[in-house]
Amino acid sequence: MNGFAVAVFLQVMHQTVAANGRSDETTVAGTLGENIILPCWNTATNVTPSFTRWMTNGQFTIERNHSIIIPISPSEGHLTILYNQSLYINRINLSDEGTYLCDSLPHNNKTQTSLTLQIVSGPDNSIIDIQPATPLSNGTLFVVRGSTVSFNCSSLSYPSQSLSWGFQGVASSNDSLAVGSGSWLDFRIEDVQPTAQGNYSCRAQNSISQKAAGSSTELLVYYSPERHPECLWNTGKDPSHVQFSCSWFGGYPSPTLFWGEKHQKSGSHGKQVAGQLMESEETDNLVVNLNRSLLFDGQILKCSGHHPTISPGEDKFCSFTLKSPYPEGEPLVTVVEGTNVTLTCTESISLPPALTRWQRTAQQEDVVSSPKYVLSEQGPTFTLTIVNITKQDEGFYFCRSENPLMVRELEIYLTVKATSQYTGAIIGIFLAILIVGSGIVIAKTIYSNRDRICLGNGFEQMGERGDVLSLVEADEEEVFHEAIPRLPPLPLTNGHNTTLVEIHTIPSTHPGIFLWR
Ligand SMILES: *[C@@H]1O[C@H](CO)[C@@H](O)[C@H](O)[C@H]1NC(C)=O
Ligand SMILES: *[C@@H]1O[C@H](CO)[C@@H](O)[C@H](O)[C@H]1NC(C)=O
Ligand SMILES: *[C@@H]1O[C@H](CO)[C@@H](O)[C@H](O)[C@H]1NC(C)=O
Ligand SMILES: *[C@@H]1O[C@H](CO)[C@@H](O)[C@H](O)[C@H]1NC(C)=O
Ligand SMILES: *[C@@H]1O[C@H](CO)[C@@H](O)[C@H](O)[C@H]1NC(C)=O
Ligand SMILES: *[C@@H]1O[C@H](CO)[C@@H](O)[C@H](O)[C@H]1NC(C)=O
Ligand SMILES: *[C@@H]1O[C@H](CO)[C@@H](O)[C@H](O)[C@H]1NC(C)=O
Ligand SMILES: *[C@@H]1O[C@H](CO)[C@@H](O)[C@H](O)[C@H]1NC(C)=O
Ligand SMILES: *[C@@H]1O[C@H](CO)[C@@H](O)[C@H](O)[C@H]1NC(C)=O
Ligand SMILES: *[C@@H]1O[C@H](CO)[C@@H](O)[C@H](O)[C@H]1NC(C)=O
Ligand SMILES: *[C@@H]1O[C@H](CO)[C@@H](O)[C@H](O)[C@H]1NC(C)=O
Repeated sequence: MNGFAVAVFLQVMHQTVAANGRSDETTVAGTLGENIILPCWNTATNVTPSFTRWMTNGQFTIERNHSIIIPISPSEGHLTILYNQSLYINRINLSDEGTYLCDSLPHNNKTQTSLTLQIVSGPDNSIIDIQPATPLSNGTLFVVRGSTVSFNCSSLSYPSQSLSWGFQGVASSNDSLAVGSGSWLDFRIEDVQPTAQGNYSCRAQNSISQKAAGSSTELLVYYSPERHPECLWNTGKDPSHVQFSCSWFGGYPSPTLFWGEKHQKSGSHGKQVAGQLMESEETDNLVVNLNRSLLFDGQILKCSGHHPTISPGEDKFCSFTLKSPYPEGEPLVTVVEGTNVTLTCTESISLPPALTRWQRTAQQEDVVSSPKYVLSEQGPTFTLTIVNITKQDEGFYFCRSENPLMVRELEIYLTVKATSQYTGAIIGIFLAILIVGSGIVIAKTIYSNRDRICLGNGFEQMGERGDVLSLVEADEEEVFHEAIPRLPPLPLTNGHNTTLVEIHTIPSTHPGIFLWR
């Protein structure tokens, strides 16, 4: 008896009180795997027992002659009768369940009392199973909004148990979701919504021992942003720096955004090789600041968004291809004194959009809006109207376009003509001479090449030798028949749809050669 460490779980479940004041039937609960001592109440008071016998379910089980000293310790056998006649059961198993009765010598005159041993076990192995759910590193589970989620709780209890599911969310403090008995209890949520996010707990209680166990799982309801990520740029005060931002709102949790450069390598297979990663972060909006030294024409900047609800292969992205500025317009403009002229410049391909402005003279001073200069901008078209042209307005004008990649300029040379009839007449006469002269040259050329006459070719060959006369945006036919009488003056509103004859220096080495286009 010495040194027994007896773990006893003894609970009186049911008692019927007999007439003699002693219970004639008692139920005790023994926990599976533990030890128990069943008392023998039949011993006559103040009588030292000499012999004890225990019956189980009416069958002889074990007996002891108390005059024989047993040297063994009770923990060694499964059943032992203690000195005071109690039955010690070591490590109860299911076959120990039954009704126990003890008999002793000398007999007393009391009613024999029986003991019912009820084996209990559990609840053990309580398991919460939520499907389909994905575990996070901290054990929290997440499901995707809109899916159908099944919850199953299982636990082992003997002989029976009750199970209950509880939920604690933002809006619900302690909701009971399901109650039942059996080895498992399940329920499902269809079209799961963020309101279903919270802690789900399952509680199992042994219906005999009342012992309870529970487990709890935090469940998150994730949803991806509905649209694609949006790529935007924002030029700073300094045009050589640019801020690219990528935003992808509306998801839970925040997505992970990656800003990178996509190389369009013309490698062995002409494949697109994933480029260098510039920055990544778990955020709704990722901004990268880049300067000119990192940017080039044709560079593809891509922002990919990854969200836990989207499989990695289906990442959403936005991208853009950087383009240098390219201002376009007429490089040569001629205007008559006293009129107005409008210079036009179109900047349509720059990405990020360029800052386009007008400059003049070789010193490239900025042209500022004034009564003299009227600046306007309509979509990609930038115009500069110079009012009341004078000779001093002659010279270079620049349409300067700058974006974070580079600066590019369109150079326009403005020629100012005097208004006088005299000048006009001079030009007229000069042109007439030129045309007559050219007629002779053409005739001569044709004549000398009469063996292989081909007018078109002849003109093209001559053209290669140098531009002398250029007719800006006019039909070849019209020039001869209509252009000359109209000169001068020529109101030039813009470079388009205007018949204009412009004379350049005539190279002395190639006299009398001209070209129109
Ligand atoms: C018999 O002896 C055991 C061990 O000493 C003790 O735990 C138990 O209570 C005793 N039983 C009775 C009925 O006195
Ligand atoms: C108990 O043991 C003693 C001594 O061995 C013996 O004399 C006695 O008869 C035994 N009692 C019973 C009931 O067997
Ligand atoms: C219970 O224990 C006894 C004694 O150790 C053993 O004979 C029996 O097989 C066990 N029964 C079960 C169901 O484990
Ligand atoms: C028990 O009953 C018997 C007769 O049935 C009697 O002789 C004996 O004295 C009684 N013993 C006690 C302790 O009451
Ligand atoms: C587990 O991680 C998720 C996401 O990081 C977090 O929202 C949640 O609160 C965490 N849960 C616990 C119990 O730490
Ligand atoms: C719940 O879990 C138990 C134990 O794992 C299993 O036997 C049972 O089939 C499950 N029920 C459902 C509906 O999945
Ligand atoms: C769920 O349980 C975790 C950890 O016990 C706790 O931090 C969190 O606030 C609980 N969530 C809700 C909605 O009660
Ligand atoms: C929540 O419910 C569980 C079981 O349904 C219960 O044990 C617990 O006391 C309740 N808690 C609150 C705060 O109501
Ligand atoms: C541009 O960025 C690079 C890399 O971040 C840096 O080394 C360089 O100094 C920057 N240049 C300017 C002009 O800010
Ligand atoms: C030139 O522009 C000025 C100012 O816009 C305007 O008043 C004037 O009528 C224009 N002259 C011509 C010839 O279009
Ligand atoms: C145009 O300029 C000339 C010379 O500067 C000036 O005399 C004339 O009044 C100006 N005309 C207009 C309409 O401003």
